[in-house]
Amino acid sequence: MATIYLKNVSRRYGQRSVLDGLTLTVNHGECFTLLGPSGCGKTVLLRLIAGFEQPTAGSIRIGDALVADASAHVPPDRRDLGVVFQEYAVWPHMSVFDNVGYPLKLAKTPKEERADRVMETIALVNLHSLEKRLPSELSGGQQQRVALARALVGKPSLMLLDEPLSNLDANLREEMRFEIKELQRKLNITVMYVTHDQEIALAISDRIAVMDTQGRIRQIGSPEDIFEKPVDSFVFSFMGVANFLQVRREGNEFFVGKGGQRAPWDRPHGDSLAWVAAFRPSDVVIRRDGNGLKGRVKRASFLGPVMDYLVEIDGAHLRTTVDTHTAVANNLMFDDDQPCVVGVREVHWFDADTIQSAGEAWA
Ligand SMILES: Nc1ncnc2c1ncn2[C@@H]1O[C@H](COP(=O)(O)OP(=O)(O)OP(=O)(O)O)[C@@H](O)[C@H]1O
Ligand SMILES: [Mg+2]
Repeated sequence: MATIYLKNVSRRYGQRSVLDGLTLTVNHGECFTLLGPSGCGKTVLLRLIAGFEQPTAGSIRIGDALVADASAHVPPDRRDLGVVFQEYAVWPHMSVFDNVGYPLKLAKTPKEERADRVMETIALVNLHSLEKRLPSELSGGQQQRVALARALVGKPSLMLLDEPLSNLDANLREEMRFEIKELQRKLNITVMYVTHDQEIALAISDRIAVMDTQGRIRQIGSPEDIFEKPVDSFVFSFMGVANFLQVRREGNEFFVGKGGQRAPWDRPHGDSLAWVAAFRPSDVVIRRDGNGLKGRVKRASFLGPVMDYLVEIDGAHLRTTVDTHTAVANNLMFDDDQPCVVGVREVHWFDADTIQSAGEAWA
C-alpha cells in the first residue's frame, strides 16, 4: 500500500524556512497533484518523500514504513518508489535499453529477468523497437518516456513526478499527460505529481493541493472543488485567468467601481465596505446593448480563434474572450472605445482587504 503520510514536515536551509509544519495524506492508487508557484517548495517536498533530503522536523511514512523522522532515514532505493525529475536526466551515452535497465542492474537483477522486464516496460510507454537507440536519436517526448520507463521498471507502488512535461511543446505535453494518467490507472499505483501548471493539474488529478509562495497548503480538493469552490482569492487566481471587479458598499447597496451602477448579483456575506467580485473570463457575456453593466471596450485584441477584450466599467476593469466566429456572426467584433454591456454568470466574492492574487491577471 503506497499511502503517503506527511506529518508536521518542516525543512529549513540555514535561517530560511521552505516548508513549515506540512501535514498531508496521499491515498493509495490516487493521482495527487501538488500545484504551486515557482519557488514554493514543491521539489523540496518531493525530494523529502524520495529520501534525497531529510526533514528538519516531522515525519514521513510510506505505507506501513516510517521512512523519515528525527532518527529514521530510509535511503531512496529502499522506499519502493520511482522518480522522474524536472530535468529529465537520461544518460546520453547509454541506449534506451540500458537507460531503462539501469535500476535493475544496480539492484543486481539476473540478466534474463532484466531483459524481460526492460522490454515489457519499454512497451508500456510505447517505445517499442527504439530500444537500441541513443537518447540523441530520440525526440523530447520519447526521451521523457525513457525517463518514465526507468522510473517504472522496478515496479514501484509510488511514482513521484516533478514537472516531467515542462520541456515538451504544448501538443506533446497534452498527449503525454493523458498517457501518464492512463499508466497510473493501468498499473494502479500512487502518483504524486508536482507542477505550477493548473491545466495539467486539472486534467490528471484525483485531488489537488494548492500551495502558496510560503510553502503553505491553501486548499486540498478534487479538481472541480478547487476550480468551482476556491477557498480564497489566491487559489481562485492560481486556477486560471481571474477577473477582480471592485465593488463598494454604501449602506445596503453595492456599486461597481466608482460609479452608480448596482452590482446585479447575490450579496456577499460580511460587513466590509470594499469587496471584489471575482469571476472567470469564460463566465462573462459581452453584448452591444440590453441588460447588464454598462461599460466600454478599452482594448480589443484579435488572438486568432478568440477576441480578447479589456472592458472598463466606471473605473473598474475586467477581461473577457469571445470565440472569433461567434463574434463575427453576432456583431460582437468590438473596436477600442466602443460601448458595451456586460453580464457575469457566476461570481465569487472576496473581501477586498484579504485579496491576494497569484500574479495571474489583475485586469
Ligand atoms: N539545497 C538548498 N539550499 C538552500 N535553499 C534551497 C535548497 N533547495 C531549495 N532551496 C530553496 O527552497 C525554495 C523552494 O525550492 P523548490 O526547488 O522546492 O521550488 P519549486 O516549488 O520546485 O519551484 P519550481 O516550480 O521553480 O521548480 C527555493 O527558494 C529554493 O531556493
Ligand atoms: Mg521544482
